[in-house]
Amino acid sequence: MEAIGRTALYVCSVLFVLTEVNSEFIHISSLVQHATEGKSLLLPVESRFSLDEVEMQGTWSHNSPSGTRITLVSFTRETTIIDMMYRNRILFKGPNLSLLIPKLNQEDEGDYRLSLNIKFLNNTELNKEEKTVHVTVDVPVSAPVIEKNPTYAVIEDKANVTWTCSVERGTRVVFRWLRDNVALVPGDRYYFSQDSSTLLISPVRKEDKGTYCCVASNPVSQSRHSRALELNVYYGPYNLEVNSVQGLRTGEVFTINPGELVFFECQADSNPPNTYVWISKSRNSTQVITEGPRLEVLSYRLAQAEEYMCRAFNNVTQKQDEAQFTLVVASLGTGQEKHTQEGSSVSPLAAITVGSLFIIACMLLFFLRRTCHPKRVLMNIYNRPLSEQKRPHRSGHEDATEDFGIYEFVSIPGKMESAQASCRSLARLESVQDMHTTIYDVIRHVPETPSHSLLK
Ligand SMILES: *[C@@H]1O[C@H](CO)[C@@H](O)[C@H](O)[C@H]1NC(C)=O
Ligand SMILES: *[C@@H]1O[C@H](CO)[C@@H](O)[C@H](O)[C@H]1NC(C)=O
Ligand SMILES: *[C@@H]1O[C@H](CO)[C@@H](O)[C@H](O)[C@H]1NC(C)=O
Ligand SMILES: *[C@@H]1O[C@H](CO)[C@@H](O)[C@H](O)[C@H]1NC(C)=O
Ligand SMILES: *[C@@H]1O[C@H](CO)[C@@H](O)[C@H](O)[C@H]1NC(C)=O
Repeated sequence: MEAIGRTALYVCSVLFVLTEVNSEFIHISSLVQHATEGKSLLLPVESRFSLDEVEMQGTWSHNSPSGTRITLVSFTRETTIIDMMYRNRILFKGPNLSLLIPKLNQEDEGDYRLSLNIKFLNNTELNKEEKTVHVTVDVPVSAPVIEKNPTYAVIEDKANVTWTCSVERGTRVVFRWLRDNVALVPGDRYYFSQDSSTLLISPVRKEDKGTYCCVASNPVSQSRHSRALELNVYYGPYNLEVNSVQGLRTGEVFTINPGELVFFECQADSNPPNTYVWISKSRNSTQVITEGPRLEVLSYRLAQAEEYMCRAFNNVTQKQDEAQFTLVVASLGTGQEKHTQEGSSVSPLAAITVGSLFIIACMLLFFLRRTCHPKRVLMNIYNRPLSEQKRPHRSGHEDATEDFGIYEFVSIPGKMESAQASCRSLARLESVQDMHTTIYDVIRHVPETPSHSLLK
């Protein structure tokens, strides 16, 4: 470590010596100066020689941005001549060649050049040196003022918004824009003027909603923020959704118990808030039931499917959206209720199972009519290997007996692809209800003494 430190020190001193040797009798630390109008400006020079051992001659001159060049000061070791025009405006600091301008104005901007001829007394060689300092003179910015056009809230996709930012005082002002404290950059819909004092949003969108603020700065001022101004954008409705904490939901189908009081909530993202209308589509006609985001349904009809619709309307954007769902009232009977609910949540499989069972039931009926003894038929159907029968029942569908019981109710929500389909199946069900009951009873009685009747 010490070795490295020493090496570094050595390198540094070599470099120092080299630069010292290479040039500088004079040094100016900052070659660019941002100065403020009305304030004083010192162009500081470090002279690296003693006045006693040199002969010298030099000038400070000023190059204005427009190109005019004026020699401000001519000096030798003994004398100083300041241009008459500048006698009251600049001070030349003899010992170290620094230049001081006590009160700056805009015309003082430009390049200040120090030219120096220097000759050491012990040497005949003449050294020339030249340094240039670039000086800008600026007026500090005042607090920016933000404005919006139009001043009122706008409708998404239909309007443009122009923001302007202005300052009373300030030169070389740079403007920036913030929305909710995030910097805005030119983009698809964001157009900035050359100095960014204007921002055009065209067209305005939902995501442009927020609090805007402009920031003004220049080389001699800290960033100054305008007050915040709100942009309100009317939009929507978007993402319409119907939800309920009650009942059982399968896609667009809600299944509820008869007599149950169920609440539905309709929600959509919109500004201003939507107006909501609930529409019933049952009985081949549409009918407005209620207004507002909440629908209350007390259903007492058994096995009745109804189509409902929530319509959200934004009365400012004049846009609307609709969400449709089917409400099925199904008696999810006690004891078997659980199976039924599970069945509906895995509905495709359940539907197939139930469908096949329906066919089996039909065949069964057929046999029942044909054969005098229904019990024998059933016994044949249930004449499975012993191991299979003794297996514990894990779910409703492993036991055909239970399936028959469920079938009567599950087939309705499970198969509920359309109201029409459900109506058809319902009608059929009702027409065969008597036979159905019979089957149900017969089967129910079989497993009660399964080992006896089947094994004998
Ligand atoms: C140069 O001299 C003036 C007055 O003698 C002094 O105020 C100033 O600090 C000096 N500047 C430098 C860079 O030494
Ligand atoms: C002359 O004097 C300067 C300063 O004292 C010194 O750096 C320089 O080496 C001298 N030059 C000669 C040729 O002696
Ligand atoms: C918004 O600006 C676009 C061009 O960017 C223009 O075509 C349109 O007419 C403007 N709309 C309004 C409402 O001023
Ligand atoms: C249901 O509406 C359709 C079409 O609007 C119509 O053809 C049909 O007759 C209506 N049925 C009943 C029962 O009103
Ligand atoms: C839009 O609907 C809101 C809330 O229902 C209502 O207060 C407002 O007056 C309506 N505006 C118009 C233009 O209809």
